[in-house]
Amino acid sequence: MIGRLNHVAIAVPDLDAAAALYRDALGAEVGAPQDEPDHGVTVVFINLPNTKIELLHPLGADSPIAGFLEKNPSGGIHHVCYEVEDIIAARDNLARSGARVLGSGEPKIGAHGKPVLFLHPKDFNGTLVELEQV
Ligand code: CO
Repeated sequence: MIGRLNHVAIAVPDLDAAAALYRDALGAEVGAPQDEPDHGVTVVFINLPNTKIELLHPLGADSPIAGFLEKNPSGGIHHVCYEVEDIIAARDNLARSGARVLGSGEPKIGAHGKPVLFLHPKDFNGTLVELEQV
């Protein structure tokens, strides 16, 4: 059912420093910061030949990643994102197998303008999983 790894998201305490690290030390193609007020994050995308890295930094008072950075002050892998062709079919299939979808269970529009859902990390070996319809 799942397709490509769309991105790995890394929460970072200092977005400029993290972007510079990927650009200068790793020689990666690093995009400009984008504010995503609906998701409470500022994002920098790093394009790799086979996938993307999404650097996440809290935006606003109730950012969903603020608690994560409190527990992981130097940053850490926050989620992985897999592509699916039909997000509703994927959600319904996961629900039948007992996996929990976070929030209302209805897809939201994610950072790439496409529908996304998040799955409970306790159902996926401690990993927060994002599904994105492509
Ligand atoms: Co993501």
